[in-house]
Amino acid sequence: MQPKMEFIDLRSDTVTKPTPEMRAAMAAAEVGDDVYGEDPTVNELEAVAALMTGKAAALFVASGTMGNVSAMMAHTQRGAEVICGYQSHVFRNEQGQLAQLCGVQAHPLPEAANGTLPLDLVAGAIQGDDQHHPITSVLALENTQNMCGGLPVGVDYMRAAGTLAHAHGLKLHVDGARLMNSTSPHNTEPAGAASPLERQKVTESASATSCAADTFNATAALNKRAPSTCSLRPCACASVPAARM
Ligand SMILES: Cc1ncc(COP(=O)(O)O)c(C=O)c1O
Repeated sequence: MQPKMEFIDLRSDTVTKPTPEMRAAMAAAEVGDDVYGEDPTVNELEAVAALMTGKAAALFVASGTMGNVSAMMAHTQRGAEVICGYQSHVFRNEQGQLAQLCGVQAHPLPEAANGTLPLDLVAGAIQGDDQHHPITSVLALENTQNMCGGLPVGVDYMRAAGTLAHAHGLKLHVDGARLMNSTSPHNTEPAGAASPLERQKVTESASATSCAADTFNATAALNKRAPSTCSLRPCACASVPAARM
């Protein structure tokens, strides 16, 4: 009889499945009404995430895409512009959420070979103060940069990007679907990798857990956004149930 071939599926980290211990922990988790802040597991998860990333607060959302959409909506008003990479998830893989959900436009730039957005290109892409122009509001980065080979982006670059963004009044958003993976090659803690960011999205295994820091500001900003009509494909609509408050 042929021996059974063992293989490791390297197509994506998203093909991993929970171990029996993880399933047992999920089944035994304490639950409660999260709207009333009475879900102890969510509360603990948010507290741990805030602590790990050195942020004031964290917000549990059900998917990485939801974290990106929520952050973009919190940071922008209609007619704004978001600088991001051509290869970024927020630009390529979220059904055009910037236009479809947020009413803003992407200003995509080519990534360098190391997965970063060259800061001279970023500086050149920031719109001047002119009534004809969209208002550049966000610099959106990704760490690790998935479609550039999963490259980890270093803290020094993050700090420089944060300094540039803040000097021009922009918010810095980082899609941290794999932030934890980005820390080990650079020998940093998640809090170091997250330090320059207003909004930090961290997901474990991309589809399992995500959080955003400075939650209080995000919630306030979401509440301020003007409501608008919704004409979306059902899957996009269902993925952001609370975004238009
Ligand atoms: C960089 C990046 N951001 C966001 C996501 C979306 O995560 P989710 O599938 O949980 O919406 C992914 C998914 O793999 C990703 O690779």
